[in-house]
Amino acid sequence: MASTTTSTVFLSLTFSIFILCSASSEPDILLTFKASIEDPMNYLSSWSNTSDTHHCNWTGVTCTTSLPLSVSILNLQNLNLSGEISSSLCQLPNLTHLNLADNLFNQTIPLHLSQCSSLENLNLSNNLIWGPIPDQISQFGSLTVLDFSRNHVEGKIPESIGSLKNLQVLNLGSNLLSSSLPLVFGNFTELVVLDLSQNSFLVSEIPTDIGKLGTLQHLLLQSSGFYGSIPESFVGLLGLTILDLSQNNLTGGLPQTLGSSLTNLVSFDVSQNKLSGLFPDGICNAKGLINLVLHTNLFNGSIPNNSINECLNLERFQVQNNVFSGDFPNGLWSLPKIKLIRAENNGFSGEIPDSISMAAQLEQVQIDNNSFSGMIPQGFGMVMSLYRFSASLNRLYGEIPPNFCDSPVMSIINLSHNSLSGRIPELRKCKKLVSLSLADNSLVGEIPSSLAELPVLTYLDFSDNNLTGPIPPELQNLKLALFNVSFNHLSGRVPSSLISGLPASFLQGNPDLCGLGLPNSCSDSKPDHKVAGLSKLACALISIALVVAILIVAVGFYLIRSSKRKSEMGIWRSVFFYPLRVTEHDLVMAMDDKSAAGSSGVFGRVHIVTLPSGELIAVKKILNFGSQSSKALKAEIKTLAKIRHKNINKILGFCHSDDSIFLIYEYLQRGSLGDLIRRLDFSLPWSGRLRIAIGVAQGLAYLHKDYVPRTLHRNVKSKNVLLDADFEPKLTDFALDRIVGETAFQSSLASESADSCYMAPGIGSLLKNS
Ligand SMILES: *[C@@H]1O[C@H](CO)[C@@H](O)[C@H](O)[C@H]1NC(C)=O
Ligand SMILES: *[C@@H]1O[C@H](CO)[C@@H](O)[C@H](O)[C@H]1NC(C)=O
Ligand SMILES: *[C@@H]1O[C@H](CO)[C@@H](O)[C@H](O)[C@H]1NC(C)=O
Ligand SMILES: *[C@@H]1O[C@H](CO)[C@@H](O)[C@H](O)[C@H]1NC(C)=O
Ligand SMILES: *[C@@H]1O[C@H](CO)[C@@H](O)[C@H](O)[C@H]1NC(C)=O
Ligand SMILES: *[C@@H]1O[C@H](CO)[C@@H](O)[C@H](O)[C@H]1NC(C)=O
Ligand SMILES: *[C@@H]1O[C@H](CO)[C@@H](O)[C@H](O)[C@H]1NC(C)=O
Ligand SMILES: *[C@@H]1O[C@H](CO)[C@@H](O)[C@H](O)[C@H]1NC(C)=O
Ligand SMILES: *[C@@H]1O[C@H](CO)[C@@H](O)[C@H](O)[C@H]1NC(C)=O
Ligand SMILES: *[C@@H]1O[C@H](CO)[C@@H](O)[C@H](O)[C@H]1NC(C)=O
Ligand SMILES: *[C@@H]1O[C@H](CO)[C@@H](O)[C@H](O)[C@H]1NC(C)=O
Ligand SMILES: *[C@@H]1O[C@H](CO)[C@@H](O)[C@H](O)[C@H]1NC(C)=O
Repeated sequence: MASTTTSTVFLSLTFSIFILCSASSEPDILLTFKASIEDPMNYLSSWSNTSDTHHCNWTGVTCTTSLPLSVSILNLQNLNLSGEISSSLCQLPNLTHLNLADNLFNQTIPLHLSQCSSLENLNLSNNLIWGPIPDQISQFGSLTVLDFSRNHVEGKIPESIGSLKNLQVLNLGSNLLSSSLPLVFGNFTELVVLDLSQNSFLVSEIPTDIGKLGTLQHLLLQSSGFYGSIPESFVGLLGLTILDLSQNNLTGGLPQTLGSSLTNLVSFDVSQNKLSGLFPDGICNAKGLINLVLHTNLFNGSIPNNSINECLNLERFQVQNNVFSGDFPNGLWSLPKIKLIRAENNGFSGEIPDSISMAAQLEQVQIDNNSFSGMIPQGFGMVMSLYRFSASLNRLYGEIPPNFCDSPVMSIINLSHNSLSGRIPELRKCKKLVSLSLADNSLVGEIPSSLAELPVLTYLDFSDNNLTGPIPPELQNLKLALFNVSFNHLSGRVPSSLISGLPASFLQGNPDLCGLGLPNSCSDSKPDHKVAGLSKLACALISIALVVAILIVAVGFYLIRSSKRKSEMGIWRSVFFYPLRVTEHDLVMAMDDKSAAGSSGVFGRVHIVTLPSGELIAVKKILNFGSQSSKALKAEIKTLAKIRHKNINKILGFCHSDDSIFLIYEYLQRGSLGDLIRRLDFSLPWSGRLRIAIGVAQGLAYLHKDYVPRTLHRNVKSKNVLLDADFEPKLTDFALDRIVGETAFQSSLASESADSCYMAPGIGSLLKNS
């Protein structure tokens, strides 16, 4: 016991002596620095002159490894710090690295840090630094790393920056820099990383002297305003591993001698410019020896040598959305490390060679909307890492090889709008396949029933082919969000769930299909509805009435539809009353079983859809009974959408086709009152219940009395009362009769009251607008 106490005393004694003698004023310097900054989360609590902790052990402090210990690195990244970056730090004689990234420092560039004589590495990325880069930036002559990225630095980059000759990293990305670049980049002879990306006001040609930087490894100029052509001097970038010039305004062709600068390249991205012309002859192409080896079948799997193909390190190749033409660089297809090839929306021609089998790392290919021709080679099916292959809108022909979906990770295949022929192969191995589009080809034969064995298959588009035979009933096992077989020669009974769950336009153009709601009813027709289980006679009678009603509606529906058969079938039209950045197509794609919320209501299910912005919306899918013209429908929904009351669920927009109407509502996170009160753990104080009751009454009163034109809800029930985060009620599903028409409205509600025995008071009332 005694010895422990003694040693503790001894230890703290040595510590004090240590601090007093050797560390001299370094803790004080740090404390002065701390005094000028704000640290709301108290991350720097260890920075204190009262604690026993040596300052080299304070948060973010690293000291030299040799004695005397002295601060060399200060890493205070991501601590929510703000206030002033004081120059007191420069009294630390050995401070080489200062990282204040990811904080909230709101000030101009701290020029006084240039007094820090040992400072080499300054990182102020992701703060609130504003104002221009001053001419005096030249005072930072000793820096090797300067990172001002992700701030609000603005104005022209001064010429004096050219005197920072020791720079290895210059990152000014994601700022507000403007005008054109000074011509001093040739001075950065040590530069390894140059990042000027995401400065949309930087409108400049790419300085030619960047091509002199033989040490440069990363050149990131994407998403700025660069225009003009890629300098021929770029052939000098022999060390380059990442080149990103995407999303600029570049024109002209690629330097014809680009090849030599590709030896080390891992990522090549010039996508989304206006680049044009042919690719440099023979670029990335396997030359001489490898051709010989392949042709004489001597190739035994060993990776070819750099002298054979200059692009051997390439992993990502992105040239999409330009105006390139001519033959696609053939050698790319068989590179040993290639993972991503994107060339969509250009004018490339050429064929996919069988040697694609050697691209053992290939994951993603997108070459849609070009002029690729030829067959899909057998070798394609041997690439076991491929998960996306999309080559729509090309001139591919011939049969689809049976192994084309053998990759166990394959998820998305789009071969639509080509000239493929033959049958759809049996696909059993690609268990991860989500989307398969073979639309608009010349495929024949039957739809393989083995597709039903692919557990996550959700989007199937076989439209515009010459397929025959029945729709395999097994496909009902899949949770299909899209199943389009329109315009083929299919025949026989359509499985019932495929009729009820999907727009009828996905079946059109197959005169020999039959089933409920289709032009032909099947001869051996059996009702699909299960009457069994309903014990009471009354209920049975109601159900029969319901079936009859549905039939009447369906026949009426068909008659109306067939009268305008030739007009824009399956075309979506949308009206948004709110800036929803979503397309009809996205909506249709998002409306799968996963997004469906709650049980299916009378008029259809509600789907919760996440917009690209992260916002949530609720989309109600209603069958379009076609009871009114598109114009009248639009007018009705617009009227409903204009209702603004705190107790009415806002309609944000709608889209409609001839088959369905999607009503887009604001999303309310607590769901419906009906679902809430059915929950086992339901509890709501009486004050809350009263508030809901009053809110509903106020919403109804507004709708029925104050809004012009007067509008009847006609289906008030707990399921149609939604609750926001504060349990404020909002009525939804109001006046759907105006949208679907009286007949469909009545028959749908009749079917509902058949199994609930509750009847909303407004069901029977018809209000003529005054
Ligand atoms: C510790 O620092 C505070 C203010 O930073 C100062 O007032 C106090 O005298 C210092 N105490 C010691 C023991 O140095
Ligand atoms: C820092 O803390 C570690 C463990 O807590 C200790 O071993 C080391 O001696 C301390 N360094 C200094 C300089 O006090
Ligand atoms: C910074 O503060 C914000 C709110 O003030 C908080 O949400 C965030 O988690 C904090 N970050 C860190 C790293 O403490
Ligand atoms: C720290 O700086 C001092 C003064 O410049 C110098 O004498 C000493 O060698 C440096 N220590 C280390 C480990 O670099
Ligand atoms: C930065 O500080 C200025 C005033 O100095 C203030 O107007 C501005 O709102 C601050 N910026 C942020 C993002 O806090
Ligand atoms: C600066 O810090 C950020 C945040 O940690 C980091 O992502 C970035 O790579 C650093 N910059 C340099 C040049 O090291
Ligand atoms: C660039 O380097 C040259 C030669 O070393 C020098 O004369 C010139 O001043 C430098 N440019 C700038 C802007 O510092
Ligand atoms: C590209 O250049 C054209 C004219 O040269 C200009 O109108 C357009 O705004 C530029 N686009 C971008 C993204 O800079
Ligand atoms: C492939 O051929 C090379 C050279 O002919 C030889 O060195 C290597 O062992 C062979 N590899 C295999 C797997 O046969
Ligand atoms: C690669 O090619 C060079 C000549 O260009 C040769 O010296 C070297 O031996 C080759 N390496 C292999 C592994 O074949
Ligand atoms: C195909 O690419 C051309 C430009 O090459 C573009 O104008 C057109 O819109 C693209 N078509 C589709 C369907 O994306
Ligand atoms: C479909 O087959 C018929 C004959 O069976 C043929 O006339 C027609 O051209 C084919 N259509 C397509 C798109 O291949």
